[in-house]
Amino acid sequence: MKYAKTAKYDIEMINQKIMGPNPLKLEEELMRDNRVRTGAIVMDLGSGQGITSVFLVKEYGFKVYATDLWSDAKENQKFFAEMGLTEEEIVAVKADATDLQYEKEFFDAVVSTDSYNYFGRDADYLDEKLLPFVKRGGYIYIVVPGMKKDCHTDIQKELLLSWTPEQLDYIHDKEYWKNIVSKSKNSEIISIYEMESNEECWNDWIRCNNKYAINDRKAIEAGAGKYLNFIAFVLKKK
Ligand SMILES: C[S@@+](CC[C@H](N)C(=O)[O-])C[C@H]1O[C@@H](n2cnc3c(N)ncnc32)[C@H](O)[C@@H]1O
Repeated sequence: MKYAKTAKYDIEMINQKIMGPNPLKLEEELMRDNRVRTGAIVMDLGSGQGITSVFLVKEYGFKVYATDLWSDAKENQKFFAEMGLTEEEIVAVKADATDLQYEKEFFDAVVSTDSYNYFGRDADYLDEKLLPFVKRGGYIYIVVPGMKKDCHTDIQKELLLSWTPEQLDYIHDKEYWKNIVSKSKNSEIISIYEMESNEECWNDWIRCNNKYAINDRKAIEAGAGKYLNFIAFVLKKK
């Protein structure tokens, strides 16, 4: 696909802020079917260093709470100011996705790019830990790195060039995720699908010079991309 929105951002700046395969391209594809209104209050869940959160403010006009565990919220807020955004438009919050402290039903929507697979594999997570903070009728847009077909009992050797079986346990196929989210009683599934963005996002990532990207080069250059994909799911709170 063409990434007209992502193309507006300097690739060097993107590369300094990303923590995995090009999250702006992933988010742009995920939000092709955007049902969330301009001005909505949106949580970017697992926002990392905040590049996806900036994208949500600038490209979709949301008010964003950039919520992340590992990154430094002060650094993120500084980055947002450098990008010309005020605290009225975007707020950096350090928080654990499994122990959120927002007001109940505060958010119109949640968007999560390349992070839900760390904390959302427990089928109770959605109903117990996330949906209480979303208004009725609110949307959840999620994209996770995935596998075309789960292979955890017989892992392809190309994948093992970069990742251990324990690390690969965070990555699963569409059926796995469908099984998890369909257990939610408080949301309905609008769609679950394999994304078009895969090879291109991985290739952008392995051109970065950080140590994680360098580690991931071995598998991708050996052709492991053919076993991988990204899986999107869109849910609506009942
Ligand atoms: C691969 S990074 C992706 C970051 C960002 N979405 C991006 O695409 O650039 C995964 C993110 O998940 C976040 N994360 C992992 N476990 C988390 C948790 N329990 N609560 C909140 N964030 C979490 C980490 O802090 C990290 O920033």
